[in-house]
Parts: sequence; structure tokens; C-alpha cells
Amino acid sequence: MKGVLICGGTGSRLRPLTDVTNKSLLPVYDKPLILYPLQVLLDAGIRDIAVITGKEHLDQMTHFLGSGERFGCSFAFKVQEKPGGIAQALGLAESFVDGSPVCAILGDNIFFDDLAPIIKNFKSGGHVFLKEVPDPERFGVANIDGSVAKGTFRVTSIEEKPPRPKSNFAVTGCYVYDKHCFEIIRTMKPSARGELEITDVSRAYMEAKSLAATVLQKEWIDAGTFESLFRATELVRNQRSASI
Ligand code: DAU
Repeated sequence: MKGVLICGGTGSRLRPLTDVTNKSLLPVYDKPLILYPLQVLLDAGIRDIAVITGKEHLDQMTHFLGSGERFGCSFAFKVQEKPGGIAQALGLAESFVDGSPVCAILGDNIFFDDLAPIIKNFKSGGHVFLKEVPDPERFGVANIDGSVAKGTFRVTSIEEKPPRPKSNFAVTGCYVYDKHCFEIIRTMKPSARGELEITDVSRAYMEAKSLAATVLQKEWIDAGTFESLFRATELVRNQRSASI
């Protein structure tokens, strides 16, 4: 399996912190944010990772991440010319992924659950990770059906930031897809906000009855706002002091 770290976009909700710095290089207690999603890929045994970023941040991303040697992996950097959506960003990694399954993860997501067993055991179709939240309208939202295997569910509906969500299950920013995701992306049209939506990729798998989901039990953070970035810092700090 190959990995894709999706770190383009403008980080507009975190201005002026993101006027110069890529969102995923902002500090979360003692480490840049990006190291958390990177660790998810490394824990799953993924060693070939494409990093997608805007051209204004390519220098700082390559400066910080380097070749990957110090993380025991190998990075390929791809530039997203304009923020045309998360699915467009993933599509840029098609030749890099080269027919393998792929785990795409957003550079601003922090997971406290261990996702490695699911990623390592992935066979085909798509797999997403859901988290019950009080404010689902801020996220992709999924509905699930009875368990298909221990702790795994079938997704029955998936919508991007619905004003009236059908459930409290937010779709988190880690997506495991087989090679067909790139065919799906190539035929997609931009949404009303002009982006190729990752939720539409997952919906295509759902319509083919091949989208599975796991519900996370621990904390999950999309650190894209001041409040959530601050909360991430608090959680990481508390966890560190608890383990000392
Ligand atoms: O965090 C989970 C949520 O992430 C999901 O529930 C939503 O379905 C999904 O659309 C996404 O929503 P956000 O509003 O949080 O997306 P945001 O625009 O903040 O982008 C998330 C990351 O993707 C961010 O680190 C930047 C990167 N990105 C975004 C866009 C729009 C790109 O690399 N390129 C892009 O064009």
C-alpha cells in the first residue's frame, strides 16, 4: 500500500497563522501537526508516501520532511497548482500510486485510535473511519447499517457538510481505497463550491456497495480551526504528562 499526505489548501480559517506557514507545519504542543498523520501511515507499515502541497509551501515542506530518511520512509512531493479539492489533490498521486491500494490522510487530522490493523488488512473497495461528534454539519457525514464484521459497518449514505445531517457520524480524514479511486476521480465534476470532493469518491464506492466504515472510540481532531488546534495541543500535552 502507498500513502498520500494531503497538505495543500489555503488554511484560510487559521489566518494569520497560515499567511506564511502551511497549516500542517503549525505546532501541536511539541511537534508540527503533520507528524501525527504521518505516524498513522508509518504505523501501518507504509513506506512510500506522496506529499501534496501548494507551490507556495513546497520549499518549507521539503525542508522539514526531507527525503524521508529520518522517518524511515521515502517521500515524493507533488504540487497542487490551486486548491481544487481533496479528491483533486489525491488524483495528483495517481502515477505515484501506480495501481496499488492507497491510504490518503489529511495533513490536519490527529487520530488517537490505532488505525493500523484496518489499513494493513485492507483488501478492496473503500474504507473510512467515522467519529461521533456533536457538530456533524462541519464535516462529511455518513450513515451506517448493521455490522458486517466485528466493528466494521456498511455505509448507507454519505454527504459533505449537510445542513441537516442524517447522523452524528463525521467522516474523518483518513481514506483507504483500492486502485479504482483514480478512475472515479478522473470522471468527477466539481461540486457547487468548485472542488472535487473526497466525499464523492467515497459515495461512488458506497453506490457500488463497497464502502466499509469503522467507528473510532478515542478522540479525533480536525485541527483546521483555532479552537480545534488549541484542543489538539491540550490533548497531546495531557497525554504526554499522563505517560511520564
Ligand atoms: O477533517 C475531516 C473533513 O475534511 C471531512 O469530514 C470532510 O468530508 C472533508 O471535506 C474535509 O473537510 P474540511 O473542511 O476540513 O477540509 P479542508 O478544506 O480543511 O481540507 C482538509 C485538508 O486537505 C487540509 O489539510 C488541506 C487539504 N487540501 C484541501 C483542499 C480543499 C488540499 O490539499 N487541497 C485542496 O484543494
